Amino acid sequence: MKRYLLLFLFFCSVFLTGCGEVMVSENLTLTRANAPKYNEQYITVGFIQTGKESDWRDANTNDFLNTFTKESGFNLIYIDGNSDSDRQRKAMNDLIRQKVDYIILDPIVEDGWEETLERAKENHIPVIISDRQVKADPSLYTCWVGSDFYSEGINAVIWLEEYLEQAGRKDDPLKIVILEGTKGASAAIGRTMGLQKKIQEHPNWQVVAQECGNFTQGEGKTVMEKILAEHDDFDVLISENDNMMFGAMLAMDQNEVSYGVGGKVITISFDALHEAFEKMIEGDLMASIECNPLIASAARKVIQQLEMREPVDEIHYIEESVFSYENAAEYMEERKY
Ligand code: AHR
Repeated sequence: MKRYLLLFLFFCSVFLTGCGEVMVSENLTLTRANAPKYNEQYITVGFIQTGKESDWRDANTNDFLNTFTKESGFNLIYIDGNSDSDRQRKAMNDLIRQKVDYIILDPIVEDGWEETLERAKENHIPVIISDRQVKADPSLYTCWVGSDFYSEGINAVIWLEEYLEQAGRKDDPLKIVILEGTKGASAAIGRTMGLQKKIQEHPNWQVVAQECGNFTQGEGKTVMEKILAEHDDFDVLISENDNMMFGAMLAMDQNEVSYGVGGKVITISFDALHEAFEKMIEGDLMASIECNPLIASAARKVIQQLEMREPVDEIHYIEESVFSYENAAEYMEERKY
């Protein structure tokens, strides 16, 4: 019951509306008489993160830590997956043994989750998949909350098409280099598919190199050094996250390859981090396709719905935009990560 009361306190703007009915928001009305009964003080949520591969990931972790607080009625158990899928599975089994109320999983890769999800289901622990997805029967988990990675890939090329059109280079031959994220991760799979789909529409475009940098700045630099040793002539660098792009920029600086506005190489990446905005304003990064790490409140809403025995949508997309060197300054102030 205490837990139930804490939930009420958490929802902002609480108004008593008579007959024991509590108005917690315009869309959600809890009726005390019908509400489920709870014995524990807090809702215990186990959150399994991928690791710390990027600044995006830090923003995502902080969002969960700041959203699932004791003041909001939650006891959050945070687990760092340390970029290791086996460690993530072990963590999930531990959480199941601890009989947590909910599990939120940010899977590193899509494969290998069936067995662990089945165990969670057998133990009646709802699992919310967040950020990346899993290749498993959807009946094994409650829902997925995250970004539309495929559309992000499509949007990156749409930005490039528009830029080339404005620059009068629409029909010119174009050599493209792609830095890919972690193999088997939805963010890499979806973005690569979106990029390929649109790139194929241009017979005058050619992908001259495509290498994996595992979403990290360090590998972005190393992989770019290797690519630069093999390819001295390309027009576009698309990096599947900002951090790999920052690493690649260091490699291009060392090799005296100019990039950005007025440079040789057109630079496009994903995430739209604070540092990416700085680089867009400086003109070094030409576009960053937003991947919004602020997912926690959507996951919390799902848990609130489940607590109230309400139906939950299976897919929840997070809102995202496209930013470029042309509009970055306008949005810089309002950026939260
Ligand atoms: O899954 C989202 C991706 O993972 C972000 O683009 C990347 O920066 C992160 O590490």
